[in-house]
Amino acid sequence: MREARLFPVAGIRLYAENAGGGGPPVLFVHGFPLSGELWHPTVERLERTGESRLIVPDLRGHGRSEATAQASMTRYADDLVELLDALGERRPVVFVGLSMGGIIGFEFFRRHRARLGALVLVCTRANAEPPEGLPRREAMAQAALRDGSRVVADAMIGNMFAPGVAPQLRQRWYDIMAATPAIGVAAAARALAARPDSFPTLPRIDVPTLVIAGDSDAITPPEGLREIHAGIRGSRFVTLERAGHLAPVEHPDRFADLLREFLSSLG
Ligand code: MLT
Repeated sequence: MREARLFPVAGIRLYAENAGGGGPPVLFVHGFPLSGELWHPTVERLERTGESRLIVPDLRGHGRSEATAQASMTRYADDLVELLDALGERRPVVFVGLSMGGIIGFEFFRRHRARLGALVLVCTRANAEPPEGLPRREAMAQAALRDGSRVVADAMIGNMFAPGVAPQLRQRWYDIMAATPAIGVAAAARALAARPDSFPTLPRIDVPTLVIAGDSDAITPPEGLREIHAGIRGSRFVTLERAGHLAPVEHPDRFADLLREFLSSLG
């Protein structure tokens, strides 16, 4: 079963796909400036077993969801809870977040602990933006608004994949980044600049957690993921070989196997 539609959420329409069975819900949250398509290879593999309910939104200002001039990690996390409510899903979710999706996962834990059953943190970061990064994020926001999202896609595409990525895959993700509404890119770049430091949150995380790094990830290198793992008591840590920042599309079989194992370990 796969349903895809727009849901009224916090004054905008948020696009989400809903697949799989009636089992425990898994919420897949993409990064910046991407879309829920990031999770299609994983969902295709997991839905064959027909167990978990698989929920894949496009974040506000990304993919097919409406954009607003302002966003924040808080807003994205609250949107997701409103989406779950709109789907009638009250059970705690397994939150799978890549990069900005993982940053939103920390916020989801802080604000909506009762809605969280487990965490999968993929190619992400826990730190606040360092001072030297702030002008770069602001320049990116302004460039997107002035010249369009293509300039952001041009700046980011070279760091997204491990060396040797298939040209079609690289092109597909270039196109998705370039098609992200400029207003959504700018809002997200500014939200990333303003994100809080999540390191103090790590020792408080009390749900089963899996941390996944790509050994060739140039955007969120494995050392940062190892620090996240060290901060979360009882978490598991896996490094995917020959994987860059977009591990779920670079290595769909290995990624889906890891997730399947983690989901079955939750019982
Ligand atoms: C992402 O994939 O969400 C971004 O690359 C995050 C970032 O730029 O820090």
